Amino acid sequence: MIWTKEMLEQAIKEKMGDYRFIIASNREPYIHEYSGKKIKCVQAISGLTIALDPVMQASGGIWVAYGSGDADKDTVDKNNKIRVPPENPSYTLKRIWMTKEEVNGYYYGYANCALWPLAHIAYEKPLFDAFDWGYYETVNRRFAQNILKEISNGKSFVWLQDYHLTLTAKYIKEKRPDAVISLFWHIPWPNPEVFRVCPQKKEILEGLLSNDLLGFHIRYHCHNFLSTIELELEAKVDWEELSVVHQGHKTLVRPFPISVDYEGISTGAKSVEVEKAMQGISDSIDPPYEILIIGIDRVDYTKGIIERLKAVERFLEKYPQYHGRFVFLQMGALSRIHIKSYKLLIDNIQALAEEINWKYGEGSWYPIVVKNIRLDYTSHLALYRAADLCLVSSLHDGMNLVAKEFIAASVDKKGVLILSQFTGAARDFAKEAILVNPYDSEGFADALHMALELSPKEKRERMERMQQILAENNIYRWAGKFISNLLKLE
Ligand code: G6P
Repeated sequence: MIWTKEMLEQAIKEKMGDYRFIIASNREPYIHEYSGKKIKCVQAISGLTIALDPVMQASGGIWVAYGSGDADKDTVDKNNKIRVPPENPSYTLKRIWMTKEEVNGYYYGYANCALWPLAHIAYEKPLFDAFDWGYYETVNRRFAQNILKEISNGKSFVWLQDYHLTLTAKYIKEKRPDAVISLFWHIPWPNPEVFRVCPQKKEILEGLLSNDLLGFHIRYHCHNFLSTIELELEAKVDWEELSVVHQGHKTLVRPFPISVDYEGISTGAKSVEVEKAMQGISDSIDPPYEILIIGIDRVDYTKGIIERLKAVERFLEKYPQYHGRFVFLQMGALSRIHIKSYKLLIDNIQALAEEINWKYGEGSWYPIVVKNIRLDYTSHLALYRAADLCLVSSLHDGMNLVAKEFIAASVDKKGVLILSQFTGAARDFAKEAILVNPYDSEGFADALHMALELSPKEKRERMERMQQILAENNIYRWAGKFISNLLKLE
């Protein structure tokens, strides 16, 4: 059975009854920004918001998130609300505000310098700062207060998102123990030996266990979480049921591999606009090429962009017959740039690309083009569709939706996906994608070679199989499954 947007809409209408549906995340799906004196609305670059936007469009309800845009305050009503998406309003976005100190402590500090590296184990040391933690608590409390206002006197299902909001469920339950609360963790959960260094581990785990349902992408992360609980808290872990009872409250722990709107993306990729944008791609890339290899990421040290460049370098060394024939286009959307390691990464990527280009460039040809710009949706799809190879080389990734978007947009079935074995997505496409260990440049270079040497027939067959898997396991199925589990809890 293939889940559709309409089916999800119907299922929610039938089953939710008079419950209110409230989602909360740090990142908002639509950001209003000043462009000169005009205001423009942009979509956030985040796997989380891109995945949940179609779900919210199908379900209606309220999405509570931090208003990060400089024009956000000027576009909401007196209750800080705005209907979105702008072109087809179908749900309400409620924005909450933070001071610069709060953003610095809660978001840059505790969420992204402590929890993010802790969960990813990408050899970036987590930094735990007591002041950051204080801001993290304050902001989690603010989310809870805003959600409580929305719950008001009614009945509600609350669906929290990610590592920014580990304490929110606890603050809500203190006031409204009857609210049904869940959280989906979008990043990996590390093993207990890694998590145990966190000074605030007890508060975080107790906060998470205030949820009635906790979702992770894959079973492995559920197991890591349960093992962490066993090591750190006095709680009863049931490995059969995948649940935890702590201080009399039960939390179900379940895997829900997130996905994309397969139908929406593949239909979009066939549009006239995308076909037009595809024609402009080669003009926008300076060196001449026959083969287009792409990487599209938020510039983050967990994405393995440096490792990818090193693999391309090794490939150039080992397979000189490909000199002059391909270009590797690395598109990066800048992110979290106030954090030193992110700033450094941008410079390191640039420096390594220049070094490789200098070493291997000949005449007007050079192998690597790095662009740090944010693409619009049409150009995004055009690039995916035009690419012969897409490289996803995360050092660790909960799922990785670029891999899934690439599959959905590859309507000509000529593209090959090279995928890190350390992504959640690798479990879905273990046989059809070419799996690599990003730390192993030698193996990665050989994988590049193998991918380029596949026959058109094999490329097509692999892509068709991946598309079939994705069509069945789309974002509506993910949301439908999560929500049905939530509804069983009322
Ligand atoms: C990951 C996280 C999301 C986050 C996104 C973008 O996908 O799981 O919670 O929104 O990265 O990062 P940002 O810090 O820009 O929101």
